[in-house]
Amino acid sequence: MLFEVKGKFKREEPMNRRYVQWIGKSCAGVFGLALLGHLAIPVSGQTPGESLYKTKCAVCHGPDGKGETAVGKANKLRDLGSTDIQKQSDDELGGIIGNGKGKMPAYGKSLKPEQIKELVAYIRSLKK
Ligand code: HEC
Repeated sequence: MLFEVKGKFKREEPMNRRYVQWIGKSCAGVFGLALLGHLAIPVSGQTPGESLYKTKCAVCHGPDGKGETAVGKANKLRDLGSTDIQKQSDDELGGIIGNGKGKMPAYGKSLKPEQIKELVAYIRSLKK
């Protein structure tokens, strides 16, 4: 009886160790992701949408959304804060960001749906 219990423990030990390792790895993964998430969170005062916009979109649309950049002028970009843009629904704006439009690159693969929503929210904040 005693022997049997011992044997059982011995046989299970490697399994347990693997399990512990697995937990360790997953924890490291989750921790890493959390860390990344924190790094992506902007420096004080900026919303996630604003910092995303500044890193991904401002090159063409300009820091204030007016499109006063070389690319913006060449493509006659409309001011993102203008009524023409603001009258479009969140879904329409999100669709343009996700699927692209003309020379506008599609971001559906590189951004998460939440990030596109944050960008739309930022575009809303540009409204005059
Ligand atoms: C390489 C330059 C470039 C980058 C980077 C870029 N855009 Fe654009 N964007 C354009 C161009 C050009 C258009 C006009 C497309 C058209 O009307 O044919 C456009 C159009 C848009 C429109 C629709 C405006 C309208 O006239 O209806 C929105 C909204 C928009 N962009 C948001 C974004 C967001 C948000 C990002 C960042 C994730 C971004 N863009 C990044 C070039 C760019």
